[in-house]
Amino acid sequence: MSDFGHRSADVDGTGEGGRRPAAAHSATLPMLDAYLSMMRAAALVSAGEIGLFETLSGGRQTIGELAQQLDMSEVGLTSLTDYLVSVGYLQRQGSFVANAPFATRWFSSLGEVDYTPGLVWTGEAWGLMRSLSDAVGRGGPHAALWQIMTERAGVSGAFSSYMHAFAEHLSDDLLKAIHLPANASRLLDLGGSHGIHSIALCERCPDLQAVIADLASALTFTQDLIARKGMSDRISLLPGDLNDSDWGADYDIILYLSVAHNQTKTENARTFKRMWNALRPGGVVVVHDYMADDGLEFHKAFQLTLLVETGTSIYSYDEYAGWLCAAGFERPVRTDLDPREKGTLLVARRPLDAS
Ligand SMILES: C[S@@+](CC[C@H](N)C(=O)[O-])C[C@H]1O[C@@H](n2cnc3c(N)ncnc32)[C@H](O)[C@@H]1O
Repeated sequence: MSDFGHRSADVDGTGEGGRRPAAAHSATLPMLDAYLSMMRAAALVSAGEIGLFETLSGGRQTIGELAQQLDMSEVGLTSLTDYLVSVGYLQRQGSFVANAPFATRWFSSLGEVDYTPGLVWTGEAWGLMRSLSDAVGRGGPHAALWQIMTERAGVSGAFSSYMHAFAEHLSDDLLKAIHLPANASRLLDLGGSHGIHSIALCERCPDLQAVIADLASALTFTQDLIARKGMSDRISLLPGDLNDSDWGADYDIILYLSVAHNQTKTENARTFKRMWNALRPGGVVVVHDYMADDGLEFHKAFQLTLLVETGTSIYSYDEYAGWLCAAGFERPVRTDLDPREKGTLLVARRPLDAS
């Protein structure tokens, strides 16, 4: 659900180590960790919301020019840009401010992936995190994220846009990990949301037809994107809870990307059995998720996020292997992505000779 793409930050993009944002820990001034983390997040969310990095990707500007273009106050932009210079996202060049190369690369439409929707989503998630103590007390959320999304379209739009950005970042890793049979014709994308992965695989395999199954709130923009890609005759939508819906059968490949952590253990065990039944012999299931056995700060933070947002969990490789093998799949092949915070891909095959 989250990827910040920033742990090994080469902030100035020089490829020579760059200037990293300063660590916030301080033994002598104990509040620095909480305070600076809060202000860094607030400044980045604000930069995303007002389109600061996108605007500066067109070239450096004075504060006066920026104020006019963004319709913001000069005094406000001076404070915001001063701070973002101090943590390495912007650069001061005389009377101009400019993006650090890192900011253009990851937070503008000129870059490799535009994670601006991730900044905007972080603003939404910040509001949700105010109920962390409540979630710790009750052992789960007061209301699941999916429920909140049915009530507030802005939340589901921000989330889907962020997932879309991350999917673009993940796409090459996924395409490298998947070796489809030449005659593959049917793909099921469980929790497929924006449709980026189904579209990429259909582009690669001209005979492939895809079904994207997801909650209706996650499919708001999907049909339009499919139409813009000219794939309306090849990709269809199946709105609804994947635990209740009839997926159809005879698939060559099933994607289960960043969905297992939204499900309970019992739901996952049942879902993998249903996948085995829905696949042709020789078909594959591809999982993307964060392995609980990794133990990085990111994984611990993500587990805490799930406590507030869904009440579910991340799971270990052994748990996935157990579910998959119990369902009849071969042992999954594991690929840990770089950086590790990008997650892990598991590919498991339904054996050819299984009945
Ligand atoms: C983290 S997003 C991943 C989206 C996409 N698969 C990707 O990799 O970018 C999780 C998706 O699972 C969907 N989802 C969660 N629980 C679901 C359920 N019970 N039935 C159908 N979809 C579900 C959410 O709506 C969301 O689109």
